[in-house]
Amino acid sequence: MTKDRDGAFRAAPRMPFHNGANLTRRSFLGAAAALAGGWPGSAAAAGPGIPFGAAIQAEYFDDTGYRDLFKRECDLVMPMNELKFALVQPERGAFDFSRADRLLEWSERNGQLARGTTFVWWSTNPPWLEAIEDARDLERALVEHIERVADHCRGRLTSWDVVNEVIAHDPEETGGPLRDTFWVRTLGPRHIPIAFQAAARADPKARLVLNDYDLEFRGPRFDQRRAIALSIVRQLQDAGIRIDAVGIQGHLYAHQEIDVEALARFGADLKALGVGLLATELDVIDFQIPGGTVEVDAAAAKVVGDFLDGLLGGQRPETVITWGMTDRYNWVEDVMPRGDGQPCRPLPFDAELKPKAWYADLRRRLAQG
Ligand code: G3I
Repeated sequence: MTKDRDGAFRAAPRMPFHNGANLTRRSFLGAAAALAGGWPGSAAAAGPGIPFGAAIQAEYFDDTGYRDLFKRECDLVMPMNELKFALVQPERGAFDFSRADRLLEWSERNGQLARGTTFVWWSTNPPWLEAIEDARDLERALVEHIERVADHCRGRLTSWDVVNEVIAHDPEETGGPLRDTFWVRTLGPRHIPIAFQAAARADPKARLVLNDYDLEFRGPRFDQRRAIALSIVRQLQDAGIRIDAVGIQGHLYAHQEIDVEALARFGADLKALGVGLLATELDVIDFQIPGGTVEVDAAAAKVVGDFLDGLLGGQRPETVITWGMTDRYNWVEDVMPRGDGQPCRPLPFDAELKPKAWYADLRRRLAQG
């Protein structure tokens, strides 16, 4: 879960919105371009187990212990930030793939899979992009970015998070299905089909993913977010635009309850639409769990276990990816530190690169997947 940079969850523009999250099929995609051609079959090829992956960061790449962990443990490695808009095109027309290429070339030499995040997000955009006020120019900038970046990575990535966190944090509160972003304010909701259509054209083989958070917990806000994700999928399909999977980020608040049945139903609903499922940013957020390492790791084991029950309950996920491999480097410590001064313990290995008990359970379940 993330906040807009100003720390507020700004209201999304009012959308035609019927009975809560029951959007009409075409209610907010607007003039999504028609696109001939179907979309590829579902889910990654059946293999002995469900591929495990993790997000890696270029700035820590010289830490050999860190790097070796990914090499030893991961079927898939993804650049955490190095393919985001601000890092790849910091100035208009000036592309810098050096950090991403260093990570992708390394994973390729290891014989590992890779995936990318992300073309459209409300965060980590360069100032020049957010300063564009003309809709046609912003559309041009978006399509050119996608074409250039997808072209550079073509054949190297199994999938892309085409759009990230487009669903309103709390649809009830904001009165609309989509998060209020400069993309929505300038292009409207149609920026979503524009992005998927450009990505489908630029990389016909990479699976195209809608990625979002807070899709796994129990409660009306999460029910609404799951319903909106399904609605976006259906609207893209109705417009003939390819979407292959939904990414559940999986930032698991250890004090919140996973709605195992609803998560399994969500996966089954996606499967019925011919759409796959990934866990893309799994980690555990433990600042509300009192006690020491034993209590915190026990709470982590519970919430990860419940998450996997739901995730595996609806369809076979294409991959499960953690948002890093070791507590030594993690975003949670920066954004949601514990009040008792203990370090957070969000990832499969602790800061000394020792595995958490729940990691063994996760790998066992993926191997049986
Ligand atoms: O690499 C540049 C560096 O060259 C520059 O000097 C510096 C100036 O601030 O910025 C550096 O980029 C930073 C980047 O991480 C790489 O370290 C950005 O400032 C910093 O904001 C960025 O933070 C990342 C954040 O997303 C925003 O992109 C976190 O590492 C990353 O864990 C976090 O991940 C997000 C997912 O993408 C989406 N889901 C939520 C998740 C957690 O917020």
